[in-house]
Amino acid sequence: MKSFYIVFIFQLCLHDTWSRVKLIKIKNLTQELQHYNAPLLPRKIFANKLIRYKATLRLRKTIQRIIGGQPTDIKYHPYVAFLLQIHFPLGLDFRGGAVIIGEYWAVTAAHCFKYIDDPYIKQELAFVCGNTSNWKLGGNEHHIIKIFKHERYNATELDYDIGLVKVKEPFNGKYEKSIKWASRNYKYVDNAHAIVLGWGSTRPIHDTSIQDNLRFVAVRLVNQEECKKRYSREDTVVTSRMFCAFDKGKDACSFDSGGPLIRNKVLIGIVSWGPHSQCAHSTLPGVYTRVSIFDEPIRKKIKTK
Ligand SMILES: *[C@@H]1O[C@H](CO)[C@@H](O)[C@H](O)[C@H]1NC(C)=O
Ligand SMILES: *[C@@H]1O[C@H](CO)[C@@H](O)[C@H](O)[C@H]1NC(C)=O
Ligand SMILES: *[C@@H]1O[C@H](CO)[C@@H](O)[C@H](O)[C@H]1NC(C)=O
Repeated sequence: MKSFYIVFIFQLCLHDTWSRVKLIKIKNLTQELQHYNAPLLPRKIFANKLIRYKATLRLRKTIQRIIGGQPTDIKYHPYVAFLLQIHFPLGLDFRGGAVIIGEYWAVTAAHCFKYIDDPYIKQELAFVCGNTSNWKLGGNEHHIIKIFKHERYNATELDYDIGLVKVKEPFNGKYEKSIKWASRNYKYVDNAHAIVLGWGSTRPIHDTSIQDNLRFVAVRLVNQEECKKRYSREDTVVTSRMFCAFDKGKDACSFDSGGPLIRNKVLIGIVSWGPHSQCAHSTLPGVYTRVSIFDEPIRKKIKTK
């Protein structure tokens, strides 16, 4: 990163989900607001960057973090990247996870674009960053040239929650490698293990902190009908563009949105949403974008100039 930034981190990627799940029980909104507006951590100096955490309000919901997992190194998962936006004079915002799928391309969740603004892209202040386990170190920064939100993305339902990002500088760092994604006929096997990765919160309830170091956790795929049934009791729709996964005490959580769920070194899901009340819920799994459905559209798009 250039010179010296004072960094404020605002909550990112999590918010939109909150209209979706209807089990929200806000007992005291004032309290919630105070909670989220409070500085979460003291100021710290990282390298030459002064970092101050400040969370704006988000009613929780959903966006997934890594619960029950452990730290890992980017060298084992070189396809993992993240979205970052700089706003002047002094801001640096983590905007969610991303996955490298081509020399100039990354895939993420469409809802992560909510806070990546065109003016910032035009002014070259929005990036996909890779080649680092610790996001605060910045890693290799790739200017975002354009974002492509799925045209059928529905922010209320979080349906078609997938987007592509094209960058200016190629992903060619030592630990920047594209990953294969699930092809159209990929079979999602009930109970199969998969691994989800991200920098999201590590505590299941009302945690808005982003972790410095990349983490992962193993979860199991949930039968689609079973997942639909569980969420239908909450008046929440699970569409065929989604699938579910979790395990006891293990889940993705806030700020993991846009990051990968992989099985046998293939990208099969993108972190999308979960129950509003908490992550690693005992009966409501985390929900992922079903990548295989988007196989052809992705292929076509990343062939374009
Ligand atoms: C809500 O929380 C605020 C701040 O803690 C407190 O002042 C207020 O009395 C609470 N309201 C209710 C209805 O509990
Ligand atoms: C999103 O889905 C909801 C529920 O199916 C529907 O009412 C709404 O019109 C959709 N929004 C868009 C922008 O398509
Ligand atoms: C990527 O990270 C590795 C390990 O930290 C480092 O050696 C390398 O210089 C970094 N940059 C590039 C462009 O690979």
